[in-house]
Amino acid sequence: MPHLFSPLTIKDITLRNRIGVSPMCQYSAEDGMPNDWHYVHLGSRAVGGAGLVIVEATAVEPRGRISPEDLGIYTDKHIEPFKRITSFLKEHGAVPGIQLAHAGRKASTYSPWKEKEQSTAGVPNDQGGWDVVGPSEIPFSEGYKEPKELSIDEIKEIQENFRLATIRAREAGFEWMEFHGAHGYLAHSFYSPISNKRTDEYGGSFENRIRFFLETVRIMRKEWPENLPFTVRISSTDWVDDGWTIEDSIELAKRLKEEGVDLVDCSSGGNLPKAPIPVGAGYQNLFAEKIREQAGIPTAAVGLITQAMQADEIIRNEKADLVLLARELLRDPYWPLRAAETVHQKGALDIPVQYERGW
Ligand SMILES: Cc1cc2nc3c(=O)[nH]c(=O)nc-3n(C[C@H](O)[C@H](O)[C@H](O)COP(=O)(O)O)c2cc1C
Repeated sequence: MPHLFSPLTIKDITLRNRIGVSPMCQYSAEDGMPNDWHYVHLGSRAVGGAGLVIVEATAVEPRGRISPEDLGIYTDKHIEPFKRITSFLKEHGAVPGIQLAHAGRKASTYSPWKEKEQSTAGVPNDQGGWDVVGPSEIPFSEGYKEPKELSIDEIKEIQENFRLATIRAREAGFEWMEFHGAHGYLAHSFYSPISNKRTDEYGGSFENRIRFFLETVRIMRKEWPENLPFTVRISSTDWVDDGWTIEDSIELAKRLKEEGVDLVDCSSGGNLPKAPIPVGAGYQNLFAEKIREQAGIPTAAVGLITQAMQADEIIRNEKADLVLLARELLRDPYWPLRAAETVHQKGALDIPVQYERGW
């Protein structure tokens, strides 16, 4: 029976345990460049014992950043500073992952702490913002910019930028790829009927709405080494009757498996400003469980997993193959080291020699 501290092997990569750092925007970059903040933030979580550290949503083109302070990997200049981070993560036993993203109609917004002082979510173009794009001309919410509907040629250009970013991510030393297909960003806005009202081959039917996702994954998978894990994050449901559903996600996961996707990270929501989300302990776990069972693909569970026993139970009962933690790991980068003691696996994780006297 696997448990929280069992290694997980996917392709040629083995995670030392089933704990991953969920991608978390730090809103701390200039022109997409990682800096010392990212190095220390991500590095600490590798030292703390996570098996996998996934770098925040990293834009494949400047227009695809959520805020002007997001990370990006849209030029070759970005490769070197990421390499510094991946080397450190590997040195400390964590597998370095990256989430490649395009924010679509939810781009050009203020970082959370700047938004508090503003009257709109969207950053005006004369203050460092930019025009945003999406499947249709439907803004996410009041205060957000109205997206320009992408032409077919423009869709292809974005897919080419995903391809180039995938090559750069590999050159930067990443060993785990996550395509960001969740939270109302570009890929999700294509597959959800709420934001996609197109009448061409990228809109309308289920087949057409998932086309952007599948094509982009196919393009990226070709550039990503076969022996390294290629994963995706999806929003498993929009949480409304006329939106994307868990049944849609199961079908999508089956298609993704055929495209060579190795694991589905099962998040939810983000495409509607006021969805009735029943937030609570492990509220998205059921999606990871259903997709794993019904699409026959490994999954990651995420969302209000905060307790060691809770995380261990998910793995032991084979509800998911991996747990991803976000906010709990902001509070405590050493959570995995503490969790090992709680779940009766003391000794499963090496304490960094520099810290041994503290444990
Ligand atoms: C500060 C912060 C930044 C986040 N940035 C991202 C991101 O870049 N990409 C993403 O897919 N999710 C992002 N999320 C969502 C988390 O990855 C995670 O799915 C969510 O917080 C639920 O997990 P938790 O309850 O353990 O925090 C972010 C969450 C937080 C708190």
